[in-house]
Amino acid sequence: MSIKPIGVGVIGCGMISNTYFPNMVNRFDILNVIACSDLIEEKAKAKAEEYHCVAMTNEEIYNHPDIQIVVNLTNVWSHYEVTKAALEAGKHVYSEKMMAENYEDAKELYDLAKSKGLVLSCAPDTFLGAGYQTCRKLIDDGYIGTPLAVNATIVRGYFPATPAPRKGNVTSEGGTIPFDMGGYYIHAMQNLFGPVKRVSGFAQRREKIYSHPSNPQYKEKFLLNSPNFIQAALEFECGVLGTLTACDSGFVTPEIPGMTVYGTDGVLICPDPNMFGGPVKLIRNGGKEYVEMPLTHAYSGEEPVFPPAPPEKDFTKIMWAASRRGIGVADIAWALTNGRTPRISNEMGLHTIEIIHGVTVASETGKYYEMTSHPERPKALRAGFIGGAAEAVFDD
Ligand SMILES: NC(=O)c1ccc[n+]([C@@H]2O[C@H](COP(=O)([O-])OP(=O)(O)OC[C@H]3O[C@@H](n4cnc5c(N)ncnc54)[C@H](O)[C@@H]3O)[C@@H](O)[C@H]2O)c1
Repeated sequence: MSIKPIGVGVIGCGMISNTYFPNMVNRFDILNVIACSDLIEEKAKAKAEEYHCVAMTNEEIYNHPDIQIVVNLTNVWSHYEVTKAALEAGKHVYSEKMMAENYEDAKELYDLAKSKGLVLSCAPDTFLGAGYQTCRKLIDDGYIGTPLAVNATIVRGYFPATPAPRKGNVTSEGGTIPFDMGGYYIHAMQNLFGPVKRVSGFAQRREKIYSHPSNPQYKEKFLLNSPNFIQAALEFECGVLGTLTACDSGFVTPEIPGMTVYGTDGVLICPDPNMFGGPVKLIRNGGKEYVEMPLTHAYSGEEPVFPPAPPEKDFTKIMWAASRRGIGVADIAWALTNGRTPRISNEMGLHTIEIIHGVTVASETGKYYEMTSHPERPKALRAGFIGGAAEAVFDD
C-alpha cells in the first residue's frame, strides 16, 4: 500500500517538541513535517536543521498550501490564539493540553472547528499507548466483570522554585495541576468508560509560597488564577462512578500516579496515564490471583528506540524519543486518509476541560453540573499495534 503523507506544521519549538519531532519525523510514514515556527526564531531554526524541515513564521505555516495539520505546541496561554488562527486558515489542529486556558474559550474553538468541518484534537494521546490500550482490552473482554468504580489521584508539588517569579505553563490559567495533569486521567477514563454525564465536587485555590531563597519575594504567599486542588466526583453515562483528586501539594511530594478500576469480578491497577507503557496489574478471586498482565499492544516507549540510538548516546535525546507523543497527530492523518473520526475527537478535548470547569462550578454553587458535551468513546486500537511502518495494518 502506498502512503500519501499529510503535511504538518509545528508551532512552538520548546521542551515538549523534543518528543513530538522524532516520532512525527522518524516513526509515522503518514506524516510529513514540512515546517516549524516559534516566537524565538533561533529555536525554530535549530529544530528545522535537526529534523530537515523549514523554519517559518506562524503566518507562513497558516498560509502554506501543503500543510493540512498544525501541531500547536506553544505554552497554554498561546493555545487559543494559535489554534484560532490555524482553524481560520482552514487547517486541522492538534493542540497540546488544554485546548485553551478556560472552558469558554475552548468552546469557542470547538464551535469554530465544527462550523468549518475541521479536526481539533487535543492532547494527551498517552491513552493510545500500550498500557491504557491493554487496560481497555481487559475491561472490554470482561476480565474484571462489570466495571463499577474508578479512583484516580495525582498529588504533586507544582511550582518551579526559580529565583524570580516567572510565568510558566503550570502556574498559568488553564495550566494548574487539575488542567495540566488532570487531562491525562480524564482522557484515560474516557478511553475506558466513555463520556461523563454529570460532575460534582470541590475546587480550591490554595495559597502558594515563593520558595527560592534568592527570590525577592521569598516566603511571600500568592494565589494562582485557576484552582490548584480539585476533588471531583464523576458519574459516567455508562453508570461507572469515579473520583479524581488533583492536588498541588506545594513542595516536592513522593508521587504515586495511577488509577484503579473496581469491577464485579476483579480489580485493575492501571499504569501512570502520563506514560505510554505499563505495568498493568489484575487482582481476581478475592485477591488470590494478583498478576502483572502482559501488554496486548506494543506502543509503549519501552521497545528499542526507533531509529536506533544516535551514536553520540545523548541520553536526553534517547529519553525524549522514547516518549511516544505524536501518535495523536498520526491518528488524525490516518482519519483524514480513511474518512473516519480521529480517536481524539473534537468533543473529547472539550469534554475534558468541561469536566474541570464543571467541578469548579459545582464547588461554587453546591449543585451537580450536567455535562453538555457528549463525545463518543474513542475506538480501541487493535491488539498488537506497534506504530511505525506497520501502522497502516491497524487502521480501520
Ligand atoms: N514540558 C513538558 O514536560 C510537557 C509535557 C507534556 C505537555 N506539555 C505541554 O506542551 C506545551 C508546551 O510546553 P513546553 O514545556 O514545551 O513549553 P516551552 O516553554 O518549553 O515551549 C513553548 C514554546 O512555544 C513558543 N511559543 C509560545 N507562544 C507562541 C506563539 N504564539 N507562536 C509561536 N511560538 C510560541 C515559546 O517561545 C516556546 O519556545 C504546554 O501546553 C504544556 O502543557 C509539556
